[in-house]
Amino acid sequence: MRKIFVTGGAGFIGSAFVRQVLEEQPDVEIVDYDALTYAGNLENLAGLDPARHSFIKGDICDRPAVLEAMPEGCDAVFNFAAESHVDRSIHSADEFLRTNIIGTQVLLDAARAKGVRRFVQVSTDEVMGSLPEDDSAFFTEASPHKPNSPYAASKAAAEFVVRAARETFGVDAVITRCGNNYGPRQFPEKLIPLMIANAMNDEPLPVYGDGQNVRDWIFVDDHCRAIWLAYEKGRSGEAYNIGARNERRNLEVVRSILAALGKPESLIRYVDDRLGHDRRYAIDPIKAETELGWRPQVTWEEGLAATIDWYRENQAWVEHIRNGEYREYYRQMYGAALG
Ligand code: NAD
Ligand code: TYD
Repeated sequence: MRKIFVTGGAGFIGSAFVRQVLEEQPDVEIVDYDALTYAGNLENLAGLDPARHSFIKGDICDRPAVLEAMPEGCDAVFNFAAESHVDRSIHSADEFLRTNIIGTQVLLDAARAKGVRRFVQVSTDEVMGSLPEDDSAFFTEASPHKPNSPYAASKAAAEFVVRAARETFGVDAVITRCGNNYGPRQFPEKLIPLMIANAMNDEPLPVYGDGQNVRDWIFVDDHCRAIWLAYEKGRSGEAYNIGARNERRNLEVVRSILAALGKPESLIRYVDDRLGHDRRYAIDPIKAETELGWRPQVTWEEGLAATIDWYRENQAWVEHIRNGEYREYYRQMYGAALG
């Protein structure tokens, strides 16, 4: 059996990755290490085979705890653990710098101490900043780092500590940079699940600014497959941009959700724009396609329908979140604008 160490595996993408690996890679055992912050949720891991998946609650910045949890003979570390929401980073950046940068360094040091074969850093297209609306411009692996939010800055810095570990100590590392994910179990602070949850409850849908910002959306399972391929086939020291060539303006996304749920567009509320709001993200995935043999398998129409179905069928999951710390976050974030 191959052993892998997955951090942040109780979050949205990490839990999808863990589920996919258990299904598709019968020779792999997973140690899933997650601090269970507001975004971590053990409900995301319900029903997994305990013989091949063990969960350890812990902070990636806690060096002794990481060293104890990372198994001997571990083949790879997949670092999903992060503070991940741009709006929260605008409100307060401290935790982003701590988890996303220091935490990555601690994991790299531990991986080196334990002789782990490969380190996979799950990064984001947001490290490259914002593109002009002219739709001939794309992010490539040669695009410079130009992060605009505290979140993006912390993820860019995490890429740099990964690079430094490779250059200084020869750590075998690959970086994946993906666009906006959507799918089941995404925390309802992010655009798509927030709009689905509010629409299902006939509550207003807060659209920032003019609603014309562009994001490049990818179904979470397609992202997870690319991460696995980067681990198996990626070249050490390389970054791979992951995207499904699926650019959408926010307003189009919101309208599609309302239409699918049979709710009126009068629920849309234009609210103040996010500070430093990146205008457009768009990824050229040609390197991942050619070097990794990766292709997205889920169309936008299929993925959005499956996501909406999941939230419809799992309202208890959403309600557990909406009844907790989220209530206060929502009041602070949107209270004044939505009344
Ligand atoms: P998420 O917020 O849903 O999950 C993050 C997970 O990390 C949670 O389970 C949380 O408990 C855990 N965590 C946070 N701080 C921790 C710490 N100090 N120690 C251990 N665990 C900790 O995030 P997500 O959307 O699943 O994103 C996962 C990764 O993918 C992140 O690194 C993010 O930057 C990256 N990414 C996300 C997207 C996206 O669209 N969501 C796109 C590209 C890249
Ligand atoms: P988000 O899901 O936070 O992802 P990111 O900022 O990492 O791209 O937001 C996606 C887009 O939706 C972004 O342009 C901001 C916008 N947005 C809104 O218009 N209203 C909202 O309430 C939220 C959370 C996001």
